[in-house]
Amino acid sequence: MVQRIAVLGAGQMGAGIAQVAAAAGYDVVLRDVKQEFVDRGFASIRGSLEKLESKGKVPAGESARILSRIRGTLSPRDAADADLVVEAIVEDVAAKRELWRELDAACKREAIFASNTSSISITLLASATRRPERFVGMHFFNPVPVMKLVEVIRGEATDDATTKAVMDAAVRMGKTPVEVHDYPGFVSNRVLMPMINEAIFALQEGVAGRDEIDTVMKLGMNHPMGPLELADFIGLDTCLAILRVLHDGFGDPKYRPCPLLVRKVQAGHLGRKSGRGFYAWDEKGAQKP
Ligand code: 3HC
Repeated sequence: MVQRIAVLGAGQMGAGIAQVAAAAGYDVVLRDVKQEFVDRGFASIRGSLEKLESKGKVPAGESARILSRIRGTLSPRDAADADLVVEAIVEDVAAKRELWRELDAACKREAIFASNTSSISITLLASATRRPERFVGMHFFNPVPVMKLVEVIRGEATDDATTKAVMDAAVRMGKTPVEVHDYPGFVSNRVLMPMINEAIFALQEGVAGRDEIDTVMKLGMNHPMGPLELADFIGLDTCLAILRVLHDGFGDPKYRPCPLLVRKVQAGHLGRKSGRGFYAWDEKGAQKP
């Protein structure tokens, strides 16, 4: 049974995962490569807990208890005791495989390994370890404390016990897990990214302006954000990387990334995280008028 969880990567996703795991009562280790990244992760968790406490969604005083269950660290060896290791580092195959190789040597044999990758093959990551049957995808959505879904991705070798343990842990974290198989983009990004890409093509072709495209999808389809705003929220570099995985993985031109998206990424206009994408964003992540 899972009791201790290690989260590798204290960025937006890793911090969110550590938060929901600690809120569910797990003991959590949160690791990143620099102290300032760990500190930023804790600051984001504090901010989110404050929001939840002010709305009565977390009982008064509970935030401190949740925070006390999370231990920050710089050493991947602090994951050695974990029953479940969740990796949420940069979307880079080589970096992820290298980290998993290191964790495989450091962690106990029976520990379950889960990657929060948005589109890299789980089977490919699992093959960097000697435990592919205990390796699974655990794909959370941003903002993690708010979004209910966890996409649980079975790699080629993932066994039933591992899938069940991760589904159970997701439920304990207050999430709704959905089991899917390991194909490019899984289900979430295979469906989401072509929609975002098509919105960018529509903008590029001048079918309508940015605000008009987003308004159509918000008011016509009841999406909380329009596709261009959502692309900024996710990160245009991330959207492009996922589209490339779909394009390469299926060899189907329907997934070709829109040249306007490629150009924005080349310019360093990555969306909310860089202050500029299809919209302008301030340092706090709020949209500028
Ligand atoms: N922590 C805690 N609470 C938070 C929060 C956080 N980090 N962020 C937002 N909230 C809360 C707010 O306090 C608010 O609570 P309330 O309803 O009780 O007042 C609620 O969430 C809504 O937030 P806001 O009022 O600030 O703003 P919005 O109503 O515009 O909602 C949003 C913000 C939840 C982000 C909403 O716009 C949304 O759902 N957008 C779409 C998000 C989405 O699609 N995410 C998935 C991206 S894809 C992905 O992650 C996968 C990857 O592989 C690409």
